[in-house]
Order: sequence, then structure tokens, then C-alpha cells
Amino acid sequence: MNQLPYHNDTMNREEAYPEVDRMEKSEKYAEYEKKHGAKTTRVYPFVWNYSKEAKGPFCKDIDGNIFLDFNSHVASSPLGYNHPKIKKALNKINISDPTKIAGQDFYATGDFPGPAELQEKILETTEKFGMNKVFLVNSGAEAVENAIKISYNHSGTRGICFNGSFHGRTLGALSLTTSKPKYRKTFPNIPGIKQTPFCTCGETHNGECECGAIKELEKTVEETEDLSYIITEPIQGEGGYRIPSKEFMKNLGELTKETNIKLISDEIQAGLGRTGKFWAIEHYEIEPDVITAAKGLRVGATISKEEIFPKEKARISSTWGGGDILSSFTSIKTLQVIEEEKLVENASEKGKYILKKLDKINHPDIQEVRGKGLMDAVEFKKKEKRDKFVEKSFKNGLIILGCGEKTARLLPPLDVTKREINIALEIIENTLNQI
Ligand SMILES: Cc1ncc(COP(=O)(O)O)c(C=O)c1O
Repeated sequence: MNQLPYHNDTMNREEAYPEVDRMEKSEKYAEYEKKHGAKTTRVYPFVWNYSKEAKGPFCKDIDGNIFLDFNSHVASSPLGYNHPKIKKALNKINISDPTKIAGQDFYATGDFPGPAELQEKILETTEKFGMNKVFLVNSGAEAVENAIKISYNHSGTRGICFNGSFHGRTLGALSLTTSKPKYRKTFPNIPGIKQTPFCTCGETHNGECECGAIKELEKTVEETEDLSYIITEPIQGEGGYRIPSKEFMKNLGELTKETNIKLISDEIQAGLGRTGKFWAIEHYEIEPDVITAAKGLRVGATISKEEIFPKEKARISSTWGGGDILSSFTSIKTLQVIEEEKLVENASEKGKYILKKLDKINHPDIQEVRGKGLMDAVEFKKKEKRDKFVEKSFKNGLIILGCGEKTARLLPPLDVTKREINIALEIIENTLNQI
């Protein structure tokens, strides 16, 4: 039987506890990486040791510290580390090199399911929207690039995005990204993109939109000729875990249907069950025309209806796009586990538990606690406090990251347990008392 190098899955999830007492090797490794690697987004030296034991949200770094990972690699390891079914499946396959092929130029199949089978599995989740075609890519940004390409191909030359949005860092996706000015500063934009306010009425707001976002959206749509699409995150991610009102989303759905503008739902962070529905747009009972997925899906994907995709050959393609055999296999297994273990339901239930507990924390630095399912956030009054909280949590053994201007986000694995949540809450309370 073939064994992949990641064989150490002996961490006992029921008993593990975060323990951090030294950082020398991690700090040294981070310095080494920096010598050759371009500056990106890292905020602290978490160096996962992939040869040591890890299970669920628990893992070890190269100093031997044990961490509780409530970030799940920004939602891209939705089952945490070494889920037993994923591990077993990986240990069983006898994979050949190349593991990545020119998947949109040639076909490949073997003793275990790959990209073509993954496409079929993905479409089971979008049947309700009448979507029957998927285009596999390498990343979230590429999923967005292709979503806008197929929308432009269908009609129009202009697009609308929302304030606070994040859709990726390639130039097309970046032109739709407004969450932080520094992301776009000095880089050129694709033409014809308009921005309009995202709803700030809040999730629980009932009745007419008070923040004016619906009116602004209607006005922008009316004033923009030749409009192709509106792209939205059903819940804004990098922009600060902002949840729009139901009324706003209902209007968005109706407006795009009436005007025949494509509605693109960017589910790259919120999809795959994280918010307590498989696709986050399902919270709003509206129908998107295109869905973009990546992160938790393990591959990138642009999903839509056959009539929206280009008919002409070679209008869209990518060498590795549909050719990552290992990631496709892991993706299928991930989707199976989410289904078999009812993890969408677990996300909903455990999310309510986290939010109820977080709500009870009475701390002068906290502005608001909000979230949906296992996409949860603590907003601070000041950025400096948020930054300190994130850094100190790491030193206390809890992996979390910031988002927006002054928010910290929690993204535990979809199968997170009450015990693990309680440990995270204990660290959060201790950390709040230290900052
Ligand atoms: C909503 C959303 N869209 C797009 C992206 C870009 O994905 P990637 O980093 O894989 O290109 C992200 C990444 O954070 C995201 O959260």
C-alpha cells in the first residue's frame, strides 16, 4: 500500500490541549523563508510541522508547540487536519506522477475518482439553481476571473461590485476588490466596474433597508448601460465578516432577475457549508447565475448553466485547471464527508453555540460579535486592540486571523466539537484579559 509522507495522525483529538512554550525554530524558519520569498500576508510565525501528529483543529509546529487552529488555513482545510476518512482515502491511493496534468487538453482517469467525477459531485450541490456545468481552475481568483469572463461573454461590458468586497488579487478580480485601498493602489483596473454600498443594516434588520444600499444599488443599475453582472459575497469575508440584511439580498436577487443581469455569488470563503447552508446564498432564497468556489473545495471552480458558458472552443481553458488529480480526489472525499457526517448541520448548530458564548463576554474593547454558522467574528473598537488580540491568541495557542479594519475571525473546522470550542473560548477570554 502506498503511504504518503503525511502519516502521523496520532494526535488524540479528545484529549489534546494547546501548549506553547518556545518559538525559536519557528522564528528562525520564518526568517529563512523571508530571504527568498516575496512579502505576502503572514502576520505571525506559525510554522506547521506536516510530519508531526495533527488531528481536527489540533496540530504541532516545528518547535513542538500544540496549537488549536480556528482558522483552518483561511477555510481551505474545512475538515481540519488528518480527518480519518480523508487520511484513509489518501493512504489507499497509488498515485502516479504527474499528479497535475493538462486537464483541459487531455483526459485522465484511473482506480480512484478524479477531476471529471469531481465535476459531477459539485453539480449535485448546485442542482437547486439549475446549474449544470462546472469549470475547474487553480484558485479563487481564477474562479472569479472566469465567472466574469463567462458573464461578459453572454452580455454587456460592465460590472458592479460592493464596497468592502474581496474577490481576489489577479487584475480582473482585483478590479472588483474594494476592501482595502492598498490592495489596488497603483495597479491598473479593468474598465467598466462600478462600486456601490454593501448593506450595513445588519442580519437581523427587518423591513425596509435603512442604510440606503438598496436605493443606491437600484440607482447604479439604472444609470449603467450595458451591464453584464453584479458580483457579491453573500457574507463579506476579508472585508470584515459583514452580513447583509435579508431584504437587501432579496432585492438584489429580484433586481438581477428583472434586468437580466448575471448575479455572481462569490462563495470562495463562505461556501461548502461554513455558514450553516451548503452555499451561503441559500440563506436568502435567491438564485445566483454563477457561483465561484475554492478554498474548502480544494480546487477552484466556476459553476453555472450551460447557456452561460461560451459555446466556442478555447474561449476558456487552463493547463492545470481540470488537471489536479490529487486535489480533485481530496475534494470529492471532502464533499462526501461533509454529506455523510452532516457537517452543514454541525456548522449551524456549533455556530449558534459559539455566538451565544461570545455574546456573553463583556469586554470594553469589543464592539460587536457576529457571524453565521462557523464564519464568526469579534469586532474590536480599535485596530490596535484587534492586532494585539490576534497576536496574543497565537502566543496562547489559538490560531486566528484578522479581517476588515478591526475584526478577528473564527473559522474552525466544520466538524468542530463543543470541547474544542470551549477551549478556544477559554483562550479568548484569557487573551482579552491580557491585552
Ligand atoms: C470571497 C473570496 N473571493 C476570492 C478570494 C481569492 O481566492 P484565492 O486567494 O484562492 O485566489 C478569496 C480569498 O480570500 C475570498 O475570500
